[in-house]
Amino acid sequence: MILAILNQKGGVGKTTTAINLAAALAANGESVRVLDFDAQQQAATFQVPNVEVEITATNAALKKAVEKSTATWTIIDCPPSLDEAAPALPLADLVIAPVPPRFQDISGFAKLRQTVDATRERGNPHMQLRLLVTMRDARVTLQAEYEAQMRGAFGREVFTVVIPRTATFENAASAHQSVLQFAPSTPAAAAYRALADEVRHLNK
Ligand SMILES: Nc1ncnc2c1ncn2[C@@H]1O[C@H](COP(=O)(O)OP(=O)(O)OP(=O)(O)O)[C@@H](O)[C@H]1O
Ligand SMILES: [Mg+2]
Repeated sequence: MILAILNQKGGVGKTTTAINLAAALAANGESVRVLDFDAQQQAATFQVPNVEVEITATNAALKKAVEKSTATWTIIDCPPSLDEAAPALPLADLVIAPVPPRFQDISGFAKLRQTVDATRERGNPHMQLRLLVTMRDARVTLQAEYEAQMRGAFGREVFTVVIPRTATFENAASAHQSVLQFAPSTPAAAAYRALADEVRHLNK
């Protein structure tokens, strides 16, 4: 299964999701490959056991890497621009859009939706889209309202699991590790394990 982690907004948890979902899928012995398709090359700074991270700096390199990948899971970490990320879409079986439940992050979603619909019409009709609530801060009461709005509008297209806002992610990133390695018994690690279960279920 080819996954594209996509959102045109910056800093919403794309790379964090690509790496930690990869780590959680690999933990069961499944083969996982991460393709770093962002010029910032953040994903490539992580060292995750049993996960190969490859930099794909051009559209052609991305296409080739996807075509030759024999991994059960190939995860594309996209740049924060719909135009730049667009070449990943015809290749993807599943688009995961990390969305923090904040006004500024929910507002751009219609555009992402349109791009996904256009890709389906242009020859990738079975591509699935799922939203992932990320950076959820239990102390910010408005976020509960935004999350409810997302679930109301998108229903089963929103993953059940919610990724909490916690410094564990930055601490793990500073150590170039996934949260599953860095802090396996934290809610952060549990959340990405639960996400992996939901993603496996979609692939059935
Ligand atoms: N759930 C979270 N809680 C707290 N911090 C987080 C969480 N997820 C990610 N972060 C931190 O937020 C920052 C941005 O995350 P990340 O790099 O994953 O976003 P991105 O969408 O890939 O950004 P860009 O668009 O620049 O590629 C990083 O420092 C990361 O460690
Ligand atoms: Mg990123």
